[in-house]
Amino acid sequence: MANFFPRWTNTLPLQVVVALGVMGLGVSAAVTYYFTPKYTRVGYQPDQPVPYDHKLHVGQLGMDCRYCHSFVEKSGHANVPAASTCWNCHQHVKLGSPKLEPIRKAADKNYEGYDGNPVEWVRVHRAPDYVYFDHSAHVNRGVSCVSCHGDISEMRVVYHAEEQSMSWCLDCHKQPEKHLRPLDEVFNLKWQPEDLSRKDFTDYLAGKADAAKVAELLPLPKNGNPDELLSQEEIGSALKKLWNIHPPSPNNCSGCHR
Ligand code: HEC
Ligand code: HEC
Ligand code: HEC
Ligand code: HEC
Ligand code: HEC
Repeated sequence: MANFFPRWTNTLPLQVVVALGVMGLGVSAAVTYYFTPKYTRVGYQPDQPVPYDHKLHVGQLGMDCRYCHSFVEKSGHANVPAASTCWNCHQHVKLGSPKLEPIRKAADKNYEGYDGNPVEWVRVHRAPDYVYFDHSAHVNRGVSCVSCHGDISEMRVVYHAEEQSMSWCLDCHKQPEKHLRPLDEVFNLKWQPEDLSRKDFTDYLAGKADAAKVAELLPLPKNGNPDELLSQEEIGSALKKLWNIHPPSPNNCSGCHR
């Protein structure tokens, strides 16, 4: 695949981080400014060995991300599925399609071209080696895939929708309430704050905290109308307090560089 960084940059920044650490505090604002990349990966969309279509499988067939990315809630890395996962369906559906040939080579023992080698998907998103990133730590804290990857359920071919630069990570870490949602909506990329009524959200909180705490987490709207729609900030702020959310801040270099 295309390499965004020349190989030497994988070790260089660690030295820079150490040096800056020694210099001490007060550097974070400068760092956030200077190290915002001068290029962008947004739009990167490599050709894949099989024209797998998220819009069809997720958007139209309604499949859950976890059917294929089965480790995303449990581990730091989100896996891409083995050909056998596709074969569960495609041994029955579109079996003869030439587009599925690499899947048959990998998974269909009765196919003359079978070699059992995994399909070589091209990686789209990749954090540099000196960055520590963990999917489960985000997904289990109410951060949806859509906040970091865009609306994959509309993509026929996956592309890099967000910058995923250091300042991008920090923008959210400074104000996570702009993104947090109830855990059962993390995989629902179409979810909107308006989908959640004030009553349902109050009930959700009441299942997790006592009445006094709920009143503190979710104050009534200023006009007193209990039916008023919730905003993202109201939902996010309540969840942030409920779960005691504290992502690594710009000063905490070792939070993301371990
Ligand atoms: C039927 C299996 C399947 C389902 C369901 C599925 N994916 Fe995927 N996904 C794949 C495969 C295969 C790839 C690798 C090929 C590609 O990039 O299209 C992939 C790639 C990705 C990538 C890019 C990975 C990289 O290389 O950086 C992201 C992000 C992603 N999926 C997110 C999602 C999200 C979010 C959902 C749920 C809304 C989802 N996927 C549902 C099979 C699936
Ligand atoms: C839950 C069942 C299911 C799973 C799992 C599944 N697919 Fe599909 N796939 C379908 C259906 C249904 C269609 C649409 C068939 C049609 O157009 O009649 C389809 C269509 C396709 C097509 C288009 C075929 C053509 O010739 O038009 C490709 C390519 C494909 N899938 C790849 C994959 C890959 C790669 C995986 C694994 C990452 C996968 N699918 C997993 C059900 C599934
Ligand atoms: C907080 C931001 C964030 C969220 C939320 C998130 N991702 Fe990612 N994703 C990333 C980053 C950053 C990478 C590159 C990670 C790396 O190289 O270690 C990535 C990489 C991936 C990859 C490529 C394999 C890997 O682990 O590197 C897949 C597949 C993927 N994400 C799927 C998902 C799915 C599915 C969801 C939702 C259930 C999701 N992601 C939620 C930021 C996020
Ligand atoms: C859309 C919001 C969002 C984005 C974007 C985001 N994060 Fe986070 N991050 C969070 C939240 C929320 C937590 C959970 C904090 C907690 O549990 O107190 C978190 C926690 C973390 C943690 C601490 C948990 C752990 O695994 O030890 C690290 C490290 C981290 N994020 C790194 C990153 C990196 C690196 C990026 C960019 C590639 C990133 N984050 C992008 C919201 C985000
Ligand atoms: C929220 C997570 C996070 C925190 C906190 C963080 N960084 Fe980073 N940092 C990243 C990510 C992600 C990248 C990779 C950016 C990219 O790939 O574009 C990065 C890249 C870098 C780089 C390399 C820049 C380059 O141009 O390649 C340096 C140097 C660096 N960080 C230093 C620091 C220092 C010093 C601190 C503390 C003041 C810090 N970081 C805090 C996430 C973080």
